[in-house]
Amino acid sequence: MNGFSAANTEIPDAPTVYPDGELGRMVKLGEDIIFNTNTHELTKGMVGNDLTCSNCHLQGGKGKTLGTFIGTATAFPAYSPREKTVQTLQNRINNCFMRSMNGKRPIIDTEASVAMATYVTWLSSGLPVTMNAKKPVNPFYTAEWWGKGWVLPMIKSATHDNYVNGQKLYTEKCASCHQADGQGLAAAKFPPVWGERSYNTGAGLSKPEKLPTYLLHNMPLGNANLTREEAVDISIYVDAQPRPDFDLQKSLYPREEMGHYNSIVMEEKHSVRSNFAKWGLDIDQIRGDKVIP
Ligand code: HEC
Ligand code: HEC
Repeated sequence: MNGFSAANTEIPDAPTVYPDGELGRMVKLGEDIIFNTNTHELTKGMVGNDLTCSNCHLQGGKGKTLGTFIGTATAFPAYSPREKTVQTLQNRINNCFMRSMNGKRPIIDTEASVAMATYVTWLSSGLPVTMNAKKPVNPFYTAEWWGKGWVLPMIKSATHDNYVNGQKLYTEKCASCHQADGQGLAAAKFPPVWGERSYNTGAGLSKPEKLPTYLLHNMPLGNANLTREEAVDISIYVDAQPRPDFDLQKSLYPREEMGHYNSIVMEEKHSVRSNFAKWGLDIDQIRGDKVIP
């Protein structure tokens, strides 16, 4: 097992006592949104898929596993190489809306945006603030996230055989919940892992070099037991399936509505093809066909 299992002892427990008054109301509102992002009145219009924040940040970020929100607020403000600016927690949350939620970027300082940041900050109560000049990541998994050292060599040397093995493993270990077609089972609250209703190609999990670490620590749900090799092969299979393209410009509201967007980088596009090409991989060869939509 790994350091981010449910029994992780380094990460403190989530607080259980809510603040009083208006502050407490905002913490609870933020928590409600994190668990019901795609159906909540304040956010459903900004979500473009069938996911909630809690589908990835398990137990609404209270889970002591990779993706926890315990400790996250201590990392902000932080420099982000993607935007080439110093990002606030509200900025960072909005990035998951554009990418993992395949939606629009909520306007900073709306009630929804403030409430989510308030909830996430509450989960870091009492923890020391850190200054992060390199990247905006929770200090509890900075060292672990996307498999420093071991993931990239495995991704760069991947072939169609890894894809085929990934498909086999997916069928054995994942399809009972996420289904063979990757579309999940809404009635059982099993979320989709590819296709139009899943995260887009700008999301962290769409990157074949990032999904393996996430899976190692979180999936199969309740029994995270994959080896590194299995996590890589499954990631190659899952992330080679079709999902929405990401185009930053289409994820932003018009400037009159949105106000300032805290980024120097204003153009960013990704597809399944480009996410693999980044590591020298030809998606057609990986899939063993010529029909990637
Ligand atoms: C499809 C999975 C997925 C969904 C859904 C998702 N996230 Fe994330 N989120 C991630 C991943 C993966 C990262 C780390 C990405 C990276 O650093 O490249 C991340 C990072 C973050 C971070 C930065 C903190 C850190 O510790 O790295 C915050 C804050 C965050 N997400 C908030 C949210 C909120 C709020 C929502 C719902 C609006 C949400 N996320 C939905 C996958 C997801
Ligand atoms: C026992 C059922 C179950 C199994 C087996 C399982 N998952 Fe999940 N998975 C879930 C549930 C439920 C969630 C959402 C968690 C939540 O909302 O609390 C989830 C979330 C996810 C997510 C993030 C949300 C999304 O839809 O993108 C990914 C990616 C994922 N699983 C991939 C896998 C992979 C790959 C495997 C096989 C190694 C796997 N899961 C096995 C139930 C399962």
